[in-house]
Amino acid sequence: MTTPEVPETPERSAAPERSPAPGPGPASAPGEGNGGSRRGNDTPEPRVTAMFDAIAPVYDRMNTLMTAGLDEGWRRKAVKAAALHPGGSAIDVACGTGKLTFALARVTGPGGRVVGIDLAPAMLIEARRAWGDQPGVTFELGNALALPFPEETFDAATIAFGMRNLASFEEGFAELARVVRSGGKVVCLELSTPRPRWFGRLYLGVFHLFAPALGTLFRRRSAYAYLPHSLEGFPDPREIAATMRRVGLRDVRVKRLALGAVALHVGTVARSEKDAGQEPPG
Ligand SMILES: C[S@@+](CC[C@H](N)C(=O)[O-])C[C@H]1O[C@@H](n2cnc3c(N)ncnc32)[C@H](O)[C@@H]1O
Repeated sequence: MTTPEVPETPERSAAPERSPAPGPGPASAPGEGNGGSRRGNDTPEPRVTAMFDAIAPVYDRMNTLMTAGLDEGWRRKAVKAAALHPGGSAIDVACGTGKLTFALARVTGPGGRVVGIDLAPAMLIEARRAWGDQPGVTFELGNALALPFPEETFDAATIAFGMRNLASFEEGFAELARVVRSGGKVVCLELSTPRPRWFGRLYLGVFHLFAPALGTLFRRRSAYAYLPHSLEGFPDPREIAATMRRVGLRDVRVKRLALGAVALHVGTVARSEKDAGQEPPG
């Protein structure tokens, strides 16, 4: 189900140029990329939290159903992209039930440290129940847009299917990059709208019918109606890559998965010329 890696043009700007943070509510960027992508999620944070709290007990089963079990393989690719080593450290933001958190901890091992952060308390209850007693793994309540850690705390930061829920995508990437040491990785696994455009529209149409219908199975119809809504207007992979570069990430790579329905982005935090690698300022 994977397509080849999309080569990205290396970015040549030295200083990260940050666009102004959008305020709460709909944040669109007309004229950017595909001409209408949002810069952030327009659903208020308390509603997002309430929805994820409501679906927490059925979240893993729904995921397996909706992705036909492919999500495990996508998370494995995200772990590989994080380039961790035994004894290393990572933060898994919007960790949900902690599947990716634990997969990262399998690499860093008992001598390492992996922290899962999420805004929804019920998700953290599920995560702690499943993985909480693993050495080197902790779960904490926290907001992706204000991570409770100093700069350069971790070797890598990951976010899986969480970015599109944030009020500002750029602020989300900036926060991920802030807590990672120079040379470390920022990894984002997220839903995407397949191309060409007509196929993307068809896909979204089907998704709008399919997601709430599946949610009905678990008596969570309205929460699952949010899913296609959160994907609509979400920036395409090239725009996401550009956003990552704007917050100062270098060597940004994109891999499209599942015929373009999922995108895996990875960028390197570069606070020194050495870590900027083949992307010197120009
Ligand atoms: C679709 S789930 C993904 C969970 C998990 N990462 C996975 O791969 O299955 C999205 C998660 O993002 C969390 N979330 C949404 N907004 C957040 C925020 N501002 N800060 C932290 N977590 C957030 C939700 O509570 C939810 O658990």
